[in-house]
Amino acid sequence: MTRVPNPIVGPNRFKLGLFCANCDGGTSLSTAPERWACEWDEIMKVSLMADEAGVDFILPVAKWRGLGGDADTWGRSFETLTHGAAIGAATKRIGIFATVHVPLVTAAFVAKAIATIDHVTHGRAGLNIVCGWNQDEFDIHGVTIDPDRRYVQGLEWFQIYSRLLEGGPPFDWDGEFYKLRSVRTNPVSVQRPRPPVMSAGFSPGGREFAAQAADVLFTSVSNTARAPAIVKSVKDFAGLYGRHIEVYAGSHIVCRPTRQEAEDFYRYYAEDMADRRSLDYLVEQKKATTSGDLGKTERPETNPEFNARKRGQVYPGTFPGYCVLVGTPDDIAEEMAEMSAAGLSGTSISFLNYLEQMPYFVQEVLPRLERLGLREPV
Ligand SMILES: Cc1cc2nc3c(=O)[nH]c(=O)nc-3n(C[C@H](O)[C@H](O)[C@H](O)COP(=O)(O)O)c2cc1C
Repeated sequence: MTRVPNPIVGPNRFKLGLFCANCDGGTSLSTAPERWACEWDEIMKVSLMADEAGVDFILPVAKWRGLGGDADTWGRSFETLTHGAAIGAATKRIGIFATVHVPLVTAAFVAKAIATIDHVTHGRAGLNIVCGWNQDEFDIHGVTIDPDRRYVQGLEWFQIYSRLLEGGPPFDWDGEFYKLRSVRTNPVSVQRPRPPVMSAGFSPGGREFAAQAADVLFTSVSNTARAPAIVKSVKDFAGLYGRHIEVYAGSHIVCRPTRQEAEDFYRYYAEDMADRRSLDYLVEQKKATTSGDLGKTERPETNPEFNARKRGQVYPGTFPGYCVLVGTPDDIAEEMAEMSAAGLSGTSISFLNYLEQMPYFVQEVLPRLERLGLREPV
């Protein structure tokens, strides 16, 4: 098989990933009629656009129910492994992540699914491992989240997953969470020893898990000034295991020709049309079902002071924990350069409506990032 390079491990100094387009609302909590409706043909269009533009990866979110409120954001979502196989078959260059909740899918199932996507894409697959935070959505599966053991289980799951993809003779596994017999998979992945692994977490437990299992930790930065301390903490954890991992943040982008236009549009959908009830639900669920290794006020979701913009206010209609970048193409490029200088190796990108707003970002911001030396020319 001819392998193609996977941009997830490619040369761009500051990586970009199309995020959350498989869920309605994306990273907005808004009732604005322009909100992302999550129609398959539109997801495909925006994925092809990202592929063409040289965006490094697509990262879908694994969700099983919405956040309620008026918009029920994420109430509609496409499953990420099947999403990855379909989009992988239609694209040429972009890295394709799938996201799985450890307690809901066996390692052998995911190893086979990721190997499938890796063959479909000739070596462009990646896996994002999450351990769960919303008990309401786990109730759909009849599975209980153990807030203080979820990352311990995650590590055992990862060890089985990675050993499967490495190949070798069938093995038995006698662990705390899994007892398995004659474990094997065929085919193994195209990428060796396995496709890149990302994990998404924020707590110390999440950082320690990433330090052992992931190549990249996706975490909640929400304000570039906080990035150096977060990056240092993650890298210190990795150092304990003699490993190096990259840290990515998430960004929600409002880019317009003038600052005033960008501010007005952001205010319209994220303040005037904000879905505050779904934000309340999100905050309550995070408090209820996440680990005890982090004080509740240390979480970006529960401490509004963590969410700050370089200039201007943060409104309630975008997800807490994401950097909100609002302004002209120069402003957005400059803020991304600051994220890079703060130690972040990449960011996810999301928009109120991907299909309406991403073309301007691609046309105006990507060339600026190239000129700043953060990205290679496409
Ligand atoms: C960029 C990003 C992507 C995430 N994707 C998912 C997801 O697809 N499904 C999910 O249930 N949680 C997702 N999460 C939530 C995290 O897995 C995690 O629960 C959250 O960041 C809180 O951190 P903690 O679990 O370490 O306390 C994501 C978080 C981030 C920052």
